[in-house]
Amino acid sequence: MSLHIGAKPGEIAETVLISGDPIRARNIAENMLSDAICFNEVRGMLGFTGFYKGKCISVMGTGMGIPSTAIYVHEFIHSYGVKKIIRVGTCGAIQPELELGQLILAEAAYTDSATHRLYYQDPDLAVPAHAQLLEQAKETAVRLQIQVRIGPIFTSDIFYSEDANRWDHWIKKGVLAVEMETSILYSLAARNQIEALTLLSVSDNIITEKLTTAQEREHASREMMHLALEIA
Ligand code: ADE
Repeated sequence: MSLHIGAKPGEIAETVLISGDPIRARNIAENMLSDAICFNEVRGMLGFTGFYKGKCISVMGTGMGIPSTAIYVHEFIHSYGVKKIIRVGTCGAIQPELELGQLILAEAAYTDSATHRLYYQDPDLAVPAHAQLLEQAKETAVRLQIQVRIGPIFTSDIFYSEDANRWDHWIKKGVLAVEMETSILYSLAARNQIEALTLLSVSDNIITEKLTTAQEREHASREMMHLALEIA
């Protein structure tokens, strides 16, 4: 047991899919895993372990933002021996041509979070994904004929910005989208020598102000889960 996860030793698989929303974690377990068992309900942060094509996989919510994600990722690694973490989430695109539902592989994450200083000297450094896992995801997407965009993203500590020009610099730098968890996942994974990758589907475009419907989100997330489970 750890402080925030109620699982007993051995109840969490070496590979864990994480999503900000615990209900999404439950949907993955119910619809895409077989023989799934709930291992955590502490703070409503649902976690399940089941099987995908015979392989044992866990899936759990992390809540939104870096502090919450950091707690669960730390406990996965240090209390349960997790070796591979794949985040499946949503993001706000900042490149105008990016359509809603587009799947993104986050090859690196820039951030405005102060937690970045705990791991890196250079504030402008983008924290990279695990190179081999990213490569595997690219190849698998080709095999499954799932169209992906690959590029840097931005992990922000604030969802609502009151600065109209907030993203200008990052758009010019080629950053594809904004979310709130990946930089700490990649930092903790690198520090502890485990694999990590974030897959995101575009739920809104911050520049064009387009928003997905629940139906569009559901369709886009199915492709993302499929890819995540295939590389798990
Ligand atoms: N996740 C989904 N949409 C987002 C946005 N617009 N900003 C930050 N995180 C997000």
